[in-house]
Amino acid sequence: MLSESMANALNKQIKVEAESSQIYLAMASWAEVQGLEGIAEFMYAQSDEERQHMLKFFKYINERGGHSVVSELTKPATKFGSVKEMFETLFKHEVYVSQTINELVHIALQEKDYATHNFLQWYVAEQIEEEAQARTILDKINLIGDAKSGLYMFDNDIKRLTVVSSVSPA
Ligand code: FEO
Repeated sequence: MLSESMANALNKQIKVEAESSQIYLAMASWAEVQGLEGIAEFMYAQSDEERQHMLKFFKYINERGGHSVVSELTKPATKFGSVKEMFETLFKHEVYVSQTINELVHIALQEKDYATHNFLQWYVAEQIEEEAQARTILDKINLIGDAKSGLYMFDNDIKRLTVVSSVSPA
C-alpha cells in the first residue's frame, strides 16, 4: 500500500512523463514540417515511449492502492531553433527527468517503501540509456557542423541510431 505522500510524488511524475511525451510530439511536428522525416519519426517514437513511461506509473499507483490522476499539462514550444538546439533541449530535459526520478528514489528510501524503490529501478536504468542516447546524437550533430548534406544524411541515419551500451562512458 502506498503512503499518501508517495502516491502524490508518483502522481507528479505522471505529469512529468506526460509532458515529456507532449514536448517530443511538438518536436516531431516541428521536424516534420521542415521535411526532416527521419528526425520526425524518431521524435514520434520518443513521444510514444514517454506515454508508456507515464502509463507504467499510472498502473503502478492504482495497483498499490493509490489513485492515478490525469492532470493539466503545460503547452510545449512549437519551434525549436535548429536541429542541434532541439536535441540540446531534449538532452537537458532528460537530465531533468533523471533528477525527478532520483528524487522519487530518495522519497521511497526515506519511507522504507522498498516495493516502490524496486519499481523505480527500471526508470533509473532507462534514464541512463536516454541520456546516453541524447549524448550520442549530439556528438553526431557536432561532427556534421552546419553542412546541409550532413544533416540530410543524419536525417536518414537517425532511424538506425542506437546506443551501443547503456553503461558506455560519455
Ligand atoms: Fe520518461 Fe525520457 O523520460
